[in-house]
Amino acid sequence: MCGIVGYIGNRDAFPVVLNGLKRLEYRGYDSAGIALYDGTDIQMCKTQGKVADLEAKIQQNMPTKGTLGIGHTRWATHGVPNDVNSHPHYSNSGELVIIHNGIIENYASIKKELKKRGYTFTSDTDTEVLVNLIEDIKINEKVKLGKAVQIALNQVVGAYAIAVFDHNKPDEIVVAKLGSPLAIGIGDDEFFVASDATPFIEFTNNAIYLEDEEMAIVRRGREVKVRKIKGDSVVVPYVQELQLNLEQIEKGGYDHFMLKEIYEQPSVIKDTYRGRLLSDQGIIKLGGLDEYIEKFTNANRIIIVACGTSWHAGLVAEYIFEDLARIPVEVEYASEFRYRNPIITEKDVIIAISQSGETADTLAAIKLAKEKGAFVYGVCNVVGSTISRETHSGSYTHAGPEIGVASTKAFTTQITVLTMIALRLAKVKGTISQSDYMMHLHELETIPAKVEEALKSDENIKKISAVFKDARNFLYLGRGYNFPVALEGALKLKEISYIHAEGYPAAEMKHGPIALIDEQMPVVVIAVNSNHYEKVVSNIEEIKARKGKIIALVSEGDTAVKELADYVMEVPITPEALSPLVTTIPLQLLSYHIAVMLDRNVDQPRNLAKSVTVE
Ligand code: M6R
Repeated sequence: MCGIVGYIGNRDAFPVVLNGLKRLEYRGYDSAGIALYDGTDIQMCKTQGKVADLEAKIQQNMPTKGTLGIGHTRWATHGVPNDVNSHPHYSNSGELVIIHNGIIENYASIKKELKKRGYTFTSDTDTEVLVNLIEDIKINEKVKLGKAVQIALNQVVGAYAIAVFDHNKPDEIVVAKLGSPLAIGIGDDEFFVASDATPFIEFTNNAIYLEDEEMAIVRRGREVKVRKIKGDSVVVPYVQELQLNLEQIEKGGYDHFMLKEIYEQPSVIKDTYRGRLLSDQGIIKLGGLDEYIEKFTNANRIIIVACGTSWHAGLVAEYIFEDLARIPVEVEYASEFRYRNPIITEKDVIIAISQSGETADTLAAIKLAKEKGAFVYGVCNVVGSTISRETHSGSYTHAGPEIGVASTKAFTTQITVLTMIALRLAKVKGTISQSDYMMHLHELETIPAKVEEALKSDENIKKISAVFKDARNFLYLGRGYNFPVALEGALKLKEISYIHAEGYPAAEMKHGPIALIDEQMPVVVIAVNSNHYEKVVSNIEEIKARKGKIIALVSEGDTAVKELADYVMEVPITPEALSPLVTTIPLQLLSYHIAVMLDRNVDQPRNLAKSVTVE
């Protein structure tokens, strides 16, 4: 939640900070602001709205000179989105300026104390409290900015990635991290700070990712100094070489990032298994898994923790792990798991799934599981993210940057990794026959072509979208491996079109949701070839009998469902365990087209943010 960016060096800071905010806008987009030091004064502009609104306001109002600048794009936590609550925030003297991603939980008591000492506040934010606490410490304890930040952070409870500078010391930016991500880009005599590396990718490939409870002083033309916030020890930072490139974070001719990311799926699924799946030799090699294979084979059970779409990928994994590797699996919302005193033993293996690798609840669930002695394996997309560092081992999904707030390629690549893990475990445990194992390996390699094929029905899906775009509700039904796909299809529609949608196991329909069905209700039924096919056909009959409108997703060559359905979307025939990788595609396209037709902001739907770094 919230994106922060900063620059200090020799070039103009404004374009770097502004472009950085545009790239970080996926993290929050209800308000934005920039502060620049122009050599004499601080210039600041803030506004409710998007970064484009900020840009327009700056063009009318603000000089943009200066080689030091910080910027913020907000997803409100404390205080409604408006100009005043937007970041950056000044301290009372006007000397210090701060941007912050996170929540200061004990801000109310600190604010009370500061008020007693004469401080006043213009905003409702916790961040303005923090910058004044830093100022108070700096003045009263007569310390430099870095020390004041450190003392202040030892008094606050919560999560933060902050960047703060002092009008009187415009050669440095002080940054610190706990719970929210913070990367420092290292150029020639220049530094960048940001919530992720995308704002500085065209300037440098070298970055330091601060660990929790670390702070750094980034000084113009000097080395970055990293310290522990508690205890003050010096940290020798690890400078990581980035694998990102500019092309990956641009739209590449598509109208929306979401559409680009949907269409990238054939190639990113291939990237996910490239070098890991050697089908002719019958080998699956996953670096992070091989070393710890016994943790899995000796485990009493696997507990999967995740949120949102990643949780749906976990549900698909539950089917495949139990089906092929015969390991009991529980799938938990990280946000529930962390607070319900779960029973975890050293014989449990936890798999944490997260695209961003920064989701606060998933991170907290990981920490809890580690405290209880469980082995924790991460399945993350963002390289170097907090979850990838906090887990004992793991596998990256290699989907490339996912910018659209609605997760698409992250989901299919997560399932690809989880499928490879399940197949490898099944092989080691001997719970799969050699022929079945080889069949799945070969079939996994055909998935990119099948996804390509599924994408070809885009025009047909667009026509179906036009018919149903004004529906008030949707029902999504699936069984077995495709029940989680029904949940995911409904989530996609909800989050980008704002149409109410529910995913349900098809057989559960008659235990309640069937009451909702009338001639106004579109029901998307996943009815591809599977062990449940006949039963799904019966479910479709039940909906027809109540005049519901059936949009059926069928396998190529289907005849029975086609006769019953009002509208049909087709996908290539795929073994059931791998079918979610293909059935997901038309549902992504359906929600995308409906949202476009309703003129929704597809890449930045209201109230959402890409990465939920607050609980
Ligand atoms: O980065 P993560 O995978 O941990 O994020 C989890 C959810 O916040 C995320 O999947 C969210 O539900 C998406 N907006 C779904 O499209």
